[in-house]
Amino acid sequence: MLKTRLPDTGFLSGASGPLRRMLESQASEIRLSQGEVLFEQGDPGDALYAIVEGALELSVLSASGRKLSLDMMRPGAVFGEITLFDPGERTATAIATEASLVLRLRSGDVLEQIRRHPDLAADLLRLAGQRMRWMNNQLNEQVFLPMPVRLARKLAYLAPEGSDGRISLSQAELAEFVGATREAVSKTLATWKRNGLISVSRGGVQILDRNALAVLAEPESI
Ligand code: CMP
Repeated sequence: MLKTRLPDTGFLSGASGPLRRMLESQASEIRLSQGEVLFEQGDPGDALYAIVEGALELSVLSASGRKLSLDMMRPGAVFGEITLFDPGERTATAIATEASLVLRLRSGDVLEQIRRHPDLAADLLRLAGQRMRWMNNQLNEQVFLPMPVRLARKLAYLAPEGSDGRISLSQAELAEFVGATREAVSKTLATWKRNGLISVSRGGVQILDRNALAVLAEPESI
């Protein structure tokens, strides 16, 4: 039985009773230290994961070794469903960006529970639908939006309303999130810093003027 309480945020906030009960009774706990890899793109996938504490980054590497960050997942996020539905290789690498606690459910156990609790299938279909929506959105942004708009959106996503606006990522890491060069990202951040939208320090970036950033996140603003 799980010792810690399941978070009521992210995907888990809308999870069915059977999914929550399965996580509470059948999952194993995995503690990760900062920088630890949970799994790598290309590994055989055999489990579904949920985050209880901390943060994990999902990323992919291009054939030439360039990294693209796909998402930063927080407590309540559930991931690893692609190899649950289509057994094979992990489509992305998951790495803890801070000390984290994740729950691991073996794919075989999940599939067995789906047969018993159809509610669970509805949950996981919703997860797959959300993932497709997210991926489609990311693809559209990457193809149709200029880098500064993508960067403004990513900053707002990484430090949502209600947070202190701090994003502890280097400029090279932010570049990996928007699929651009570090130089281009640094240039844009320098302009925004001059205009008082953000502050930039060694530890990362902090949003100072959320409204002005929201305007820049609109495609028409460029
Ligand atoms: P799986 O392939 O089993 O393991 C890696 C997981 O990362 C994958 O399941 C999804 O849960 C998630 N994932 C894969 N691609 C993306 C993406 N482009 N954006 C967000 N999450 C992703």
